[in-house]
Amino acid sequence: MHGLLRRPGSWLFVAGCLPLLRLILLGVWGGLGADPVEFVAHSTGTWALIGLLLTLAVTPLRRLTGRSGLVRHRRMLGLFAFFYACLHALTYFWLDQSFDPRAIARDILERPFITAGFTAFVLLVPLAATSTRAAMRRLGRRWQLLHRLIYPAAVLGVLHFLWLVKKDLTEPLVYAGVLGLLLVVRLRWTQRLLARVREE
Ligand code: HEM
Repeated sequence: MHGLLRRPGSWLFVAGCLPLLRLILLGVWGGLGADPVEFVAHSTGTWALIGLLLTLAVTPLRRLTGRSGLVRHRRMLGLFAFFYACLHALTYFWLDQSFDPRAIARDILERPFITAGFTAFVLLVPLAATSTRAAMRRLGRRWQLLHRLIYPAAVLGVLHFLWLVKKDLTEPLVYAGVLGLLLVVRLRWTQRLLARVREE
């Protein structure tokens, strides 16, 4: 096998591009349904949220499996989450609101689910902007503090989904459950760590 294909990172990159490829192919073949804008908003929003949850799952999975190499893929997962969030936001700003600043501002101020989605997106921007090794080195300990913004971003992403769904809450509740589990695991580890520090 070619050296590049043997790297798990390459497969992850290909997997991350698949939702976009699917949208392009469906667009070309006219398979985006009766409301293409809604279809694209739903798909990109879902993949942004799944990307965030996968990014948050890396550390717990690394601890459970002992595979320290998993951490190498965290940045790519986070950047894919941001990439789909950008496509999602662009779909709304462009195709839904035709870049009308007044209509967008009114929507952000008046519709709680848009407020939550917009805030989640804004929180993701500094994370993506400081995802390079150079930024990591430059910011030192502050990098970790800054990257904790992923928690409120994910919580707001789930709230955004819960708020916009009118009838069947099953799907957003599944995401809420996964996020809740990931947060509880983190909290338990932090508590244990603090207890150990106090004992010493
Ligand atoms: C500028 C920021 C954002 C805006 C304006 C926005 C707006 C929207 C709109 C208009 C919809 C479709 C509502 C409908 O037609 O039913 C939607 C759906 C959704 N958004 Fe966002 N959003 C934003 C950011 C985000 C972010 C950052 C995430 C993820 C973390 C996200 C996750 C979702 C999800 C999961 C859905 C529902 C998908 C589905 O129905 O299957 N959104 N958003």
